[in-house]
Amino acid sequence: MAHAIATFIGAMLMTTMSMTTATQLNDVERNEPRIANLLEQMTLVEKVGQMSQANASDGYPPDYLGNGLRAGRIGSVLNVVDVDVVNELQRIAVEESRLGIPLLVGRDVIHGFKTIMPIPLGQAAAWNPDLVREGARVAALEAATAGVNWTFAPMIDITRDPRWGRVAESPGEDPYLASVLAAAMVEGFQGDDLSARGTIAACAKHFAGYGAVESGRDYATTNIPENELRNVHLRPFKTAVDAGITTLMTSFSDLNGVPATGNEFLLREVLREEWGFGGFVVSDYNSVQQLAIHGLTENDRDSAYEAVTAGLDMEMAGDAYSNHLIGLVEEDRISIETIDAAVANILRVKFRLGLFENPYTDSAELPPTGSDTALQAAKKAALQSVVLLKNDHRALPLSAERLSSIAVIGPLADAPYEQMGTWTFDGDPGMSVTGLQGIRDFVGHDVEIRYVRAMENSRSWSTEAFDEAIAATRASDLAVLFLGEESILSGEAHSRADINLPGAQAKLVRRIREIGKPVIAVIMAGRPLTLTNIVDEVDAILFAWHPGTMGGPAIADLLFGIESPSGKLPVTFPRMVGQIPIYYNHKNTGKPPSPDTIVHIDDIDTHAPQTSFGMTAFHLDAGYTPLFAFGHGLSYAEFDYQNIKADAREIGLAIR
Ligand code: BGC
Repeated sequence: MAHAIATFIGAMLMTTMSMTTATQLNDVERNEPRIANLLEQMTLVEKVGQMSQANASDGYPPDYLGNGLRAGRIGSVLNVVDVDVVNELQRIAVEESRLGIPLLVGRDVIHGFKTIMPIPLGQAAAWNPDLVREGARVAALEAATAGVNWTFAPMIDITRDPRWGRVAESPGEDPYLASVLAAAMVEGFQGDDLSARGTIAACAKHFAGYGAVESGRDYATTNIPENELRNVHLRPFKTAVDAGITTLMTSFSDLNGVPATGNEFLLREVLREEWGFGGFVVSDYNSVQQLAIHGLTENDRDSAYEAVTAGLDMEMAGDAYSNHLIGLVEEDRISIETIDAAVANILRVKFRLGLFENPYTDSAELPPTGSDTALQAAKKAALQSVVLLKNDHRALPLSAERLSSIAVIGPLADAPYEQMGTWTFDGDPGMSVTGLQGIRDFVGHDVEIRYVRAMENSRSWSTEAFDEAIAATRASDLAVLFLGEESILSGEAHSRADINLPGAQAKLVRRIREIGKPVIAVIMAGRPLTLTNIVDEVDAILFAWHPGTMGGPAIADLLFGIESPSGKLPVTFPRMVGQIPIYYNHKNTGKPPSPDTIVHIDDIDTHAPQTSFGMTAFHLDAGYTPLFAFGHGLSYAEFDYQNIKADAREIGLAIR
């Protein structure tokens, strides 16, 4: 903990410094005349083309993309990761279009490309910006080998709702931690020089408020008062802008009555006028056309009008811009200056990436994917992200010398794909080392491993294989249970209303518990879970999130005490769903609860019910404390704090 906090404080100081580097200033001086020059030559069709992004998987080859590129009608593509195809698309854009403007090639590289780091929420548990920067750097280098020059990351939506599937992608509930990590990710992806080989443009998303979707239901509405919007949700975005991020993506959600993709307050007032952002803003997938579904507009033409007027520079995947912007300019509903400003924002990023000088990718100039360096970074990230939630009677670490056999049980013990987590389009499950493998590699032939999957997947209700798991445990010194959620249970559109361990897992835990052997739970999940129904049934819990490619070796090192757990929760774990939203930095209220003022529903005297109990802010059935608080995380060391003193009455914090 001491190490994590010291590193964290170091990073806090770092982020108070301006990130505007000399390189960026030179870029601005050098590139603005080039942008103006191009704009003078561009037709309206070509300008609108720069503002339109096409999904390459919709039509390559032969003609849709190729012809669009030749005609200058496409400025960016997403979802193409074959380097030869990317180079061919760049060749058409650069050599066969009239003005030769290169392409932005976008991809969701969220927590790794081939080598997968822990999910972003897990990485946040390390409280270590250096680690996060390194993870983004590895991801950028690997993605660049495929010709990707723009990632749709970092995702920096603050959320206090673990039901939301996208909590997995988020840095958690705290705007300050999220801001520090946001800057680190921008630095990792973009480096000092965006035109260098192996750096890629970053995209802070989803601007803004997405993490506050009602009841954690993805895409739902958000209503966020301005003080909370600015103090909580906008803060990491401001930090990302100050750190030199080149692009932002709007949120699918509606913010205070206006969908983010058509929200002028966000895109012009805050982002451009207040923060002076000079990069460009892309919509989310088809979110311009969705403005009509939201009810803001009646048709695609009006959606294009609202979005471009609000300040949205590029449309992702849809065709509202390509079909309607030209007509809107011709009708004088939109000025050419509005279009030019958007195109300039996009060209600025292309120039900064050095694409005009160097549009092609030679993978041989970059390290191969899955290199030792990448795997080591992934292991370090997994090691630091795991949180030891409980450890009764020092059940952990295990001693391989003193054990003769271990029962390894559960649907996530040997699940190479699942441990990668959500948003791993390009991740290679063949590279994953599972928990089972990690343990086997660690103990070698000295300790017998009895592996029983026990459930087909994390959601299974069948208890048929439980007897086998029970027999394996009886025959072993102890059981290590790999529980949790498989990857598909979190991520976009994968929200849950019940966040207990799914399926029959709690039943499995109870059945194993009855045997009386020590029970260690390793939980892999894309969100905080309500663990109330199993927490007392196990001796220790290592919460491993979805730990990525190198999860297995990291977990083995932690189980056997080669490393001491150091992760601290970046989100609060509720006792039960009804406590949500629950987070550490809530306001005091006029009636804050305390242990003396609360009562549990089961303790109300039926014969003499009182009419009030302390009159404070708590739940009769859950109290007011979480199961595990923000910042919680044990280690194998014991710390003793004595005579703590502050050397000032007030401590100022510089937060950007
Ligand atoms: C997601 C974005 C993502 C985009 C492109 C959308 O559905 O909300 O986060 O970047 O798809 O894949």
